[in-house]
Amino acid sequence: TRIEKGGHKHFMAKEIAEQPTVLSDALSHYLSGDTIDLPDAVPDFATIDRIVMVACGTAYLACATAKYWIERMAGIPVEVDIASEFRYREPPIGPNTLAIFVSQSGETADTLAALRHVAEKAQILSVVNVAESSIARESDVALPILAGAEIGVASTKAFTCQLLVLLLLALRAGTDRGRLAPETLAETLEGLRTLPGRMNQALQTSDRIAKVARKLAEADDILFLGRGQMYPLALEGALKLKEISYIHAEGYASGELKHGPIALVDRTVPVIVMAPHDALFDKTVSNMQEVMARGGQIVFVTNSTGAAEAGDGAMAVIEMPDVPDVLAPILYAVPAQLLAYHTAIAKGTDVDQPRNLAKSVTVE
Ligand code: G6P
Repeated sequence: TRIEKGGHKHFMAKEIAEQPTVLSDALSHYLSGDTIDLPDAVPDFATIDRIVMVACGTAYLACATAKYWIERMAGIPVEVDIASEFRYREPPIGPNTLAIFVSQSGETADTLAALRHVAEKAQILSVVNVAESSIARESDVALPILAGAEIGVASTKAFTCQLLVLLLLALRAGTDRGRLAPETLAETLEGLRTLPGRMNQALQTSDRIAKVARKLAEADDILFLGRGQMYPLALEGALKLKEISYIHAEGYASGELKHGPIALVDRTVPVIVMAPHDALFDKTVSNMQEVMARGGQIVFVTNSTGAAEAGDGAMAVIEMPDVPDVLAPILYAVPAQLLAYHTAIAKGTDVDQPRNLAKSVTVE
């Protein structure tokens, strides 16, 4: 199995390391020059007046990120729900509603049931890793994420490939609706072409993260903070960490800190802050300083400008390369995954087969 793991100790490590390659495969599949190549069955977004996105687990958090992109670029209202809730409520669906289902396996029972719940009423698009899966077959159109087989129970490369395909959809939607300037599209596509290289750089922080993780492994509770499009990534960082290290972790929107979780903060609670130097950076930093003032130990994940401006006083600074703002959730997924992975290693838990969890949940 060492061979199956490509020289890595765990499938999870292999799958984290594969991300530059699989993302670049997905990019070659979906881009020809400056055109985003999608199947003809993808609807013209000018005809869509509402989007609902439904998934479970990590795939749900990919949807939660995409909501920020689609609403900003295309101005279409997006509702995001977890499948086990969506299927039991009465979501108003009109003929111009597009329902998007995201699933690595394409077999998650609740996601499939949610799809069937609206199949007669809405147009169904799915984003899947397993192209011949039930969810793919039952959709009007299925977009493969091309991540390759994912064995580790904790989803890693499927998450970043889901984000990539959803970002391409957001760009297409913005273009269809005439809201996205061609220059913005060209810049983002250019940024995407450099993303695999940037991801390789992000992977170089692994040893440094392993050192930080030895401290995190001693904690009973860990908070993850992010704002805007980095908020779902804070949730994903917390989910990944609790799944494989069994340390209680919570993701919070930075601005919501003072409405509750700050009560938990003391010297024993590490706080991971996901903050690229974007338009919301100063706001996030002021939330981070509130944590520091209460003795909280900060792990600050940012780029070089962010580190220079606000890195003082953090327990650790993890520096990411620069990318266009919109790509930060994809790039910063790498340190989120590495923090979880190395903390689990430091605790000695079973990284690839965490207790009580299944790779694909085919029961309701
Ligand atoms: C399980 C897995 C997660 C995954 C979720 C949804 O909980 O452990 O990694 O995100 O199911 O699975 P899906 O195959 O629908 O993406």
